[in-house]
Amino acid sequence: MALLFRPVFDADERDWIPALKRELTGYDMRIAPATGNPEDIHYLIGWKLCEGDKTSWPNLKAVLPLSTGVDRFIGHPEFPQNAKLVRMIEPGLNQGMAEYVTSFVLRFHRDHDRWAIEQKNTNWTHDMPKLATERTVGFLGLGNLAHSCISMLAPFGFKMRGWSRSEKSIPDIACFHGRDQLTAFLKECDILVCLLPLTPDTENMLNTDTLSALPQGACLINPARGKELVDDDLIALLDRGHLKYAALDVFRKEPLPTDHPFWQHPRIIVTPHIAAVTMPDTGALALRRAIETIEAGGIPTGLVDLNRGY
Ligand code: NDP
Ligand code: OXD
Repeated sequence: MALLFRPVFDADERDWIPALKRELTGYDMRIAPATGNPEDIHYLIGWKLCEGDKTSWPNLKAVLPLSTGVDRFIGHPEFPQNAKLVRMIEPGLNQGMAEYVTSFVLRFHRDHDRWAIEQKNTNWTHDMPKLATERTVGFLGLGNLAHSCISMLAPFGFKMRGWSRSEKSIPDIACFHGRDQLTAFLKECDILVCLLPLTPDTENMLNTDTLSALPQGACLINPARGKELVDDDLIALLDRGHLKYAALDVFRKEPLPTDHPFWQHPRIIVTPHIAAVTMPDTGALALRRAIETIEAGGIPTGLVDLNRGY
């Protein structure tokens, strides 16, 4: 039984190969393009699928992406039939996302962007600041990463709510589910955080209708997927003052093209898809656990439901 890893980025050679070799000792680890006998390959590890993947590995058991979002894999014409898809779940991603979201929630909550402008204008001015207990943070998606963000934000005292596909009950979180409850959920969110996987149901769902349902002056944080947001709708709502700020980490096209209006918009903060990065050491350990679980006939953490799309 062999594992095949396909390096794509510089960091793969520098960070991932050593981590995989350290954590997956005892396995026959092959680094593409040195695949050896295709019949040996039981696990495919990497960032994307390549031409030939559908048919090249007759004994493949699972595709193990290094990312947690698997929209690039589901429905891909080269997805190998009968293989499992196991998304990456590792603590570095959770910590990274919680830090990203918490930092923007606090920035928007305390209006730091306004004070930066006042400073430029040497303007000493006061307002009565709101406390966290008077501010509502809403999560579109109440999955693995949203839970870590909620835990990090909880000590500040924000009111929190979330929306998911299935009904949930989470202590201190107002839970909503399904399309019927979406508007009721949105209408109290001062700061909306999108942590939905990209599926046919969630594509374009941050649009004029949904974003207009937010209260006047609300802010958006989107570290999920760019195709969930209708770019022009966001810009129109910011320009007309319905929304105050948006922090965007993901885009329809990445890298974000240099002439895209998001770059220069005074109320948009662009970050280059760095909200949460898979950490090689803990990521390699997660791969080991997934392989061991599958070999033992169990259900690995992060097993993707290919029909549901996440
Ligand atoms: P999970 O699969 O753990 O959670 C997804 C949540 O979304 C679940 O609560 C699910 O509901 C909900 N959901 C899915 N579809 C719908 C729908 N149609 N209507 C309502 N709710 C829905 O995902 P993670 O938290 O692990 O990750 C979220 C996303 O974050 C990833 O898919 C990826 O795109 C993105 N990401 C971005 C990174 C970055 O650096 N920018 C890094 C890592 C991830 P239910 O619980 O009912 O199933
Ligand atoms: C992921 C990502 O899905 O980096 O892991 O976006």
